[in-house]
Amino acid sequence: MDSYVIRFLLILIIVLLRVAPFNSLYAFASADGRNLQGTLAFASVGRAHYAFDIYTLPLQPLRFSTNLEETLVTDGESVNHNGQYLQGPGIQTLMHRLNINTTSTPVENVMAFVSERDGFPELYLNIYLKDNLPLLAEKAEENSRREALEDGKRCLTINFGGVFEEKGKKDMPDLSMKDRPSMAGNSMVYVSTRGQTKASRKSWAAVYSTSIKTGRTRRLTPDGIADLSPAVSPSGEWVMAASAGERGWQGEIRDLETDLYVFRASDGSGRRLVVKHGGWPSWADDNTVFFHRQAEDGWWSVYRASVNSSSALVERITPPGIDAFTPAASRTGPWIAVATRRPGHDYRHIEIFDLLKKKFIQVTRLVSPNSHHYNPFVSSDRIGYHRCRGGHVGNRVPVLEQIRSPLPSLSLFRIDGSFPSFSPDGSLIAYIPNIEYSGVYVMRLDGSGRRKIFSGAAFGTAWDWKRGVVYTSAGPGFETETTTVDIVAIYNADREGTSESEISYKTLTKEGNNAFPSPSPDGKFVVFRSGRTGHKNLYIMDAEEGEEGGLWQLTEGPWTDTMCNWSPDGEWIAFASDRDSPGSGGFAMYFIHPNGTGLHRVLNSSTAGRVNHPWFSPDSKSLVFTSDYAGVSAEPISVPHQFQPYGEIFMARVDGSELQRLTHNAYEDGTPSWGRIFIAASDLTGEGESVKCDFDDDHWLQRMNGESVGSVSC
Ligand SMILES: *[C@@H]1O[C@H](CO)[C@@H](O)[C@H](O)[C@H]1NC(C)=O
Ligand SMILES: *[C@@H]1O[C@H](CO)[C@@H](O)[C@H](O)[C@H]1NC(C)=O
Ligand SMILES: *[C@@H]1O[C@H](CO)[C@@H](O)[C@H](O)[C@H]1NC(C)=O
Ligand SMILES: *[C@@H]1O[C@H](CO)[C@@H](O)[C@H](O)[C@H]1NC(C)=O
Repeated sequence: MDSYVIRFLLILIIVLLRVAPFNSLYAFASADGRNLQGTLAFASVGRAHYAFDIYTLPLQPLRFSTNLEETLVTDGESVNHNGQYLQGPGIQTLMHRLNINTTSTPVENVMAFVSERDGFPELYLNIYLKDNLPLLAEKAEENSRREALEDGKRCLTINFGGVFEEKGKKDMPDLSMKDRPSMAGNSMVYVSTRGQTKASRKSWAAVYSTSIKTGRTRRLTPDGIADLSPAVSPSGEWVMAASAGERGWQGEIRDLETDLYVFRASDGSGRRLVVKHGGWPSWADDNTVFFHRQAEDGWWSVYRASVNSSSALVERITPPGIDAFTPAASRTGPWIAVATRRPGHDYRHIEIFDLLKKKFIQVTRLVSPNSHHYNPFVSSDRIGYHRCRGGHVGNRVPVLEQIRSPLPSLSLFRIDGSFPSFSPDGSLIAYIPNIEYSGVYVMRLDGSGRRKIFSGAAFGTAWDWKRGVVYTSAGPGFETETTTVDIVAIYNADREGTSESEISYKTLTKEGNNAFPSPSPDGKFVVFRSGRTGHKNLYIMDAEEGEEGGLWQLTEGPWTDTMCNWSPDGEWIAFASDRDSPGSGGFAMYFIHPNGTGLHRVLNSSTAGRVNHPWFSPDSKSLVFTSDYAGVSAEPISVPHQFQPYGEIFMARVDGSELQRLTHNAYEDGTPSWGRIFIAASDLTGEGESVKCDFDDDHWLQRMNGESVGSVSC
């Protein structure tokens, strides 16, 4: 064939591939005969509206005023957070590795930070070149690095993992969360969830180091133990981390009550306990660390410990009356930076604590009073932190954000909202929006054509298999058995814009708190949970006439059965139940046949653990669900509010085997569902709301003036 013809055919094929709507080219069946194809969508509490970027302020002199120039140092892409200036000989090695000639191109400094641009929190580096700092970061792909330098740009953003990817692992991407980077000699040290924990309800977080010379990665935390919030000592010799040790995670959602361990940055050896009860360490010198804990009097406070004294001298630094946490120790002066929450104030701010005068000096409240500021870091002349970028740059939140998927045939999306569900043909998504926290919306699979189909408080969505109806629970969520919540059918939810497509509603239930409707595949029945007898159990009713057309109680007992999902083949109803220990807060996943036989437990977590939000795959052979199997991945106080900071999305066979973790982050993920059409990120329109920075900080840090909070109960 003549090369023009070949080229023409190639172009034709490429064009066909590009225009094929929601192409399902990656037909894929797993070895056990399951069809693992389509699209998964899930929600993360608050995350869609964080829009974090890293900012810095000059530090000299130790005085701050309202006319300080705040500098944006990340590029407004995705969510950028947890910055750290890197120090030590590793910088030179890094530049060599990146082919940057530091004689001709002097480097001012290097900041490592975390960015979630492919859905997994990954390590990035900003390399600032000498000239008139400060400046706004500019993007540069690895292969355009030289051009970027030649263009006179003074900041390069690179994906650390991308540059130092382990050889031979390219076909098996490392899908894990990475956080809290720092440099130790010629290595980057950070926390990652890359190693699976066998026991359920144990955090996967552990400290790793990656050689900047060779890209070789090693685990520094012993197997079977979780470590969080690592920090490297100024000499680069030691790492301190917050660890729950052998005890594991007991379900704590505020203060994790971790202990501080020190070990060698080179190989994890010499591991020993330094401080009982402490988190978020930061080294001032090789013998002095600052850390936080919730004190006996209830105030979050910063403490100082001498690492090397045999008595492990521990001294409280910040006084009661102000919650102070996530310290960053100065290595050049008698002060530390902290985040605070002052009683009666609505925002979290960064402050300096002067160690000699024992006084707080306000920093960010003078510059950006009305936003939350997180996790300070310092150099000799600058102080950095992250906050929502608001109206600055990159201020759109896509309604569907792609997350890199562990399976090429299954696309994975975070929705700006909750309770997504797919229409039977997979082309439409119903969901509850984040913007008003109420109403039901429908959009096309590519994120376009968003329209409201129901007003007022609602939660849970499910599509009828035959009639273009969306079912929802109308009323407030998380309420008692007697609060009125109705199952409502929304007719013509699948049609757009013609006169005969007018939306109409029918209330199907008559009394009590009724929620989480899920229809049978023949379109005749709806299963839902109801609190009408004083306990939340499952019921089935007629799908068209509602209760009046027939009502049957499916489960019965003094406990809570909830979040039910009817399998597409009609055989099973999956649901979450606390019947193993009613009222404990622990939920396991059960199956029951619609005729009431075959009740059995499919998945559980240990006491007070959670397996919830089950949803069947289109072929009825797999389940996607939310669980706390992977514990927590970051100290909850270092991220905005999560009601329960441990939910991750998992997948399994319907017999509970072949567990697979799909998400890795510090947020509360939940309410997954599974649609039958695969959609690639390139098929999305990118539509969404503008960033409003309207997420909540930790509710449990909110105090009225003078109020002291003792122990917490959830
Ligand atoms: C680095 O740049 C300097 C100054 O331009 C030059 O003399 C030197 O040869 C360069 N080194 C390398 C390895 O290219
Ligand atoms: C403790 O002190 C010894 C001797 O001064 C020193 O070699 C070591 O690095 C110190 N250990 C830590 C954890 O700072
Ligand atoms: C109940 O339904 C299951 C699944 O469809 C079926 O196998 C079983 O025979 C039914 N039992 C009764 C008593 O109808
Ligand atoms: C579920 O509970 C059973 C019985 O209590 C136990 O044997 C099993 O290990 C548990 N599974 C998980 C994943 O916790």
